[in-house]
Amino acid sequence: MFHYTIALYPGDGIGIDVTAEAVKVMRAAERRFGFRLDMTEFTWGHRYWRETGQVAPDDYLDTLKSFDAIFLGAVGDPKNLPDHVTLVPLIRLRQAFDQYVCLRPAQLLPGVATPLANKQPGDIDILVVRENSEGEYVDAGGFFKPLQDDEVALQTSIHTRKGVERILRFSFEQARKRRKHLTLATKSNAFKYGMVMWDRVLAQVAPDYPDVQCDKCHIDALCMNFVRQPEFYDVVAGSNLFGDILSDLGGAIVGSLGLAPSANINPERRYPSLFEPVHGSAPDIAGKGIANPIAAIRSAAMMLDWLGQPAAAQAVESAVAANLAEGRVRTPDLGGRNTTVEVGDDIAARI
Ligand code: NAD
Ligand code: IPM
Ligand code: MN
Repeated sequence: MFHYTIALYPGDGIGIDVTAEAVKVMRAAERRFGFRLDMTEFTWGHRYWRETGQVAPDDYLDTLKSFDAIFLGAVGDPKNLPDHVTLVPLIRLRQAFDQYVCLRPAQLLPGVATPLANKQPGDIDILVVRENSEGEYVDAGGFFKPLQDDEVALQTSIHTRKGVERILRFSFEQARKRRKHLTLATKSNAFKYGMVMWDRVLAQVAPDYPDVQCDKCHIDALCMNFVRQPEFYDVVAGSNLFGDILSDLGGAIVGSLGLAPSANINPERRYPSLFEPVHGSAPDIAGKGIANPIAAIRSAAMMLDWLGQPAAAQAVESAVAANLAEGRVRTPDLGGRNTTVEVGDDIAARI
């Protein structure tokens, strides 16, 4: 029997609720497909901080290193802790484990209403490939004369040729498996070093993929086009920040951020990969029991696929699709009246 070790990091707010439902669905898949998930839960985030004054222990990366995969709910407790403190372990983890690929699919499914007029299922099927290990998210900067009137803040982005080339090649390979169209999110009209290099690397690697149609678009226009003509897009590659922004927008145009999954992947499998919904801890609805667990459940499906259980992953995706198509059990973000637990139960029962 196949056996996998999973580190669970539910985090904060709705992260805890949606992780519980993803676990429920994974347990159902485990029973049906006959593999074993050995899960260890870590209460890092606001719970750990209350006990220790830290959001995660100093050795949390050593602890996580030996797992086959990591599943995360969401981190962030902005009422009690500044986000740039709570989020450090997550960003550091993506970088330390060289999870340089972040896959964030946005697909309009039957039974779900999009806020865009006249778009049908099939019209929106975009895969955002986010560079996840460098760019705008490197910890390079500092304050000079902090909190004084003449305070200076420095924040530097670091884009490396190696980092840009590997994510673009990965994106071309993804496009090859899909509709053979790759768009680069750029902003080389203003960021005349980093984004100019992204454009240049794209032009250099594109001839290796003559079967893939390739173009680029400035991030501002690209956001507009996601709303205006999403059907044009297939795979969209972007820097860490651009991919972050595009993936929330992707969630919104396919009906809810509560549907948007993600996979933070180390393609070489030297380190565990991390799976998490695109959304955050949603303090505005935390504790109400109404968060949509589907983004987390679909992230679990991506994890099962990555672990080598594609049939189980497909069964989870089909169960989600059936729940959405039927439209009977759904959370308020999709216009329903059901709870997080009820949606989890409904999807688990369909496995
Ligand atoms: P958010 O994604 O938590 O919420 C944005 C909006 O989407 C809110 O109105 C929320 O209610 C709604 N929403 C999100 N997930 C939903 C779901 N599953 N079902 C229904 N509605 C949902 O973004 P935010 O409010 O900017 O951030 C809140 C906190 O989460 C902050 O601390 C932020 O730093 C953190 N955050 C963490 C992650 C992560 O852990 N990967 C991601 C994004 C934000
Ligand atoms: C995400 C989140 C994180 C990011 C934040 C919380 C640091 O928005 O996973 O999309 O920007 O990567
Ligand atoms: Mn984000």
